Amino acid sequence: MSSVARIVAEFAARPWEAVAASDLGAALAVPTMLTPEEGRLYHWLGRRVAGDGAVVDLGAYAGGSAARLLAGLALAGRANPVHSYDRFRSSRMFWARYMPGEPLPETDDADLLPVVQRHLAPWKGGFTLHVGDIAGTRWTDGPIEILSVDAAKGSALADHIAGQFFPALVPGRSILVQQDYLMAVQPWLCAQMVALRSQFLPLAHVPKVGLVFLCVAPVTSEALTLAQVDSLTDGKLMSRVREAAAWHEGMVGRGRFKEMLAQIKAHPGVRLGWQMRQASARAKG
Ligand SMILES: C[S@@+](CC[C@H](N)C(=O)[O-])C[C@H]1O[C@@H](n2cnc3c(N)ncnc32)[C@H](O)[C@@H]1O
Repeated sequence: MSSVARIVAEFAARPWEAVAASDLGAALAVPTMLTPEEGRLYHWLGRRVAGDGAVVDLGAYAGGSAARLLAGLALAGRANPVHSYDRFRSSRMFWARYMPGEPLPETDDADLLPVVQRHLAPWKGGFTLHVGDIAGTRWTDGPIEILSVDAAKGSALADHIAGQFFPALVPGRSILVQQDYLMAVQPWLCAQMVALRSQFLPLAHVPKVGLVFLCVAPVTSEALTLAQVDSLTDGKLMSRVREAAAWHEGMVGRGRFKEMLAQIKAHPGVRLGWQMRQASARAKG
């Protein structure tokens, strides 16, 4: 069996489902927007890392994804550096929903950094927090073993993330988690990945909306140019979504892609998830 076939079989068995709450240890107490299964996946991914490259967490919020990755790495005795990126700001609404135990800030756009530093204190020295807009980041820290993308809420940022981080993925080894992959209001993600189908192999759908990929070929600048999504017309974006639906046949039901097509049709030219969501809410009255 080739090493790629071995990894495909490994993920098809969904071993993260067997991760026990006790394995998560201190990470269990760190608030997260991840579903419980997604949380177990992140922990298990941390545990299975083979190479010495970095683990990158794009969109950290209160530190939940980073904590689960760090706990997995610690359990495996691995010291891979974890890099978490976020603006580290929160609205009062999200703060109240995800951190009901924390005193509610007086205003929106509250500073999350002190809370995240406290949440990740058990793994001090194992992580770096990169504060600011991911659109302004450059990745220069070598190979990446695990890349979690939970911040590509617009097509321009999806292009920037691919351009900076995908070339650092190691073929045959690195794992990419597209956390929002099946969100109806982020159709550029599947449009991007289907154009990179020679470089990435889908491994698993992890409910609700995440897809896990194995990097199987180097992501070159030529491949990135062909995979750009911000410049696509609505028509081109829709045809890429249809291609993605066919690509994921057997792993993801067609309904998810139909919802994406409906969102593009209903919101011509819109390339930000929150704008699509807001317009849909307004239309519903
Ligand atoms: C869904 S949340 C991440 C949840 C997190 N992974 C967890 O485990 O709970 C998405 C995060 O992406 C961040 N984000 C979105 N766009 C960003 C940008 N352009 N620059 C920096 N952070 C961004 C938001 O601040 C938010 O905290």
